[in-house]
Amino acid sequence: MIKFENVTKVYNKTVRAVDDISFNVKGGEIVGFIGPNGSGKTTTMKMLTGIVKADVGKIIVNGFNVRKEPIKAKESIGYIADSPDMFLRLKGTEFLDLIGDIYHVPTDKRQQRIKEFAERFELSEALSSQIMSYSHGMRQKIMVIAALMHNPPVWILDEPMVGLDPKSAFELKQMMRDHAKAGNAVFFSTHVLEVAEKLCDRVIIIKKGNILYDGTLENLESTSKNESLEKIFLELTEK
Ligand SMILES: Nc1ncnc2c1ncn2[C@@H]1O[C@H](COP(=O)(O)OP(=O)(O)OP(=O)(O)O)[C@@H](O)[C@H]1O
Ligand SMILES: [Mg+2]
Repeated sequence: MIKFENVTKVYNKTVRAVDDISFNVKGGEIVGFIGPNGSGKTTTMKMLTGIVKADVGKIIVNGFNVRKEPIKAKESIGYIADSPDMFLRLKGTEFLDLIGDIYHVPTDKRQQRIKEFAERFELSEALSSQIMSYSHGMRQKIMVIAALMHNPPVWILDEPMVGLDPKSAFELKQMMRDHAKAGNAVFFSTHVLEVAEKLCDRVIIIKKGNILYDGTLENLESTSKNESLEKIFLELTEK
């Protein structure tokens, strides 16, 4: 459902943020994207959404070429950005209505999904307040609701657990599992290796824009004498 073919992004003609990467995420998979700060995770995810344009290479989402069919590709995606500090002047309900309009979510579906998600994340009462008044975790939760409201098949989540309390993080992890189980694709970045260990079918490790590893955790751990993911990660990325 996600396909990268020899994709490169260079910022300001000098910073090679992503350097000729290729990978796939299939339906039914949860794939964790891990790597040190500045290794190109956010850039890769932004290229998937079309926010950042790739210089070279081909990106396909749900069968649509991100460059040639940007609207169809975008409709297929639920994207949680790395910073939830957006639309601060809007009330929660106003923001979700705006997103519902943009994605043409019918009113009944919209209300049903907002109600279900807000209850799951214990955000129902805050929806009538301005997002400006929300805590970081509350902002993160409303971004999750907004990203998933149009029921997109492909989820792209850039550090989605940051700032969430344990109950909300648990709910989100469960939603990710359910989404993949239903045949959809979940591609997410994290710095919390335990989350990757618990959740992922596969991990992709990136450093300085290059993919160092793409495969199952079992395979990675078995080739490294059953060391912990933390140790393997540090050894791989420090080389
Ligand atoms: N808009 C931009 N203009 C110039 N350089 C950028 C821009 N965005 C990112 N970069 C550079 O591209 C590289 C990759 O950054 P990116 O944000 O993709 O990393 P990341 O893996 O998401 O890091 P983190 O774990 O800190 O979120 C870094 O060297 C960064 O400085
Ligand atoms: Mg990032």
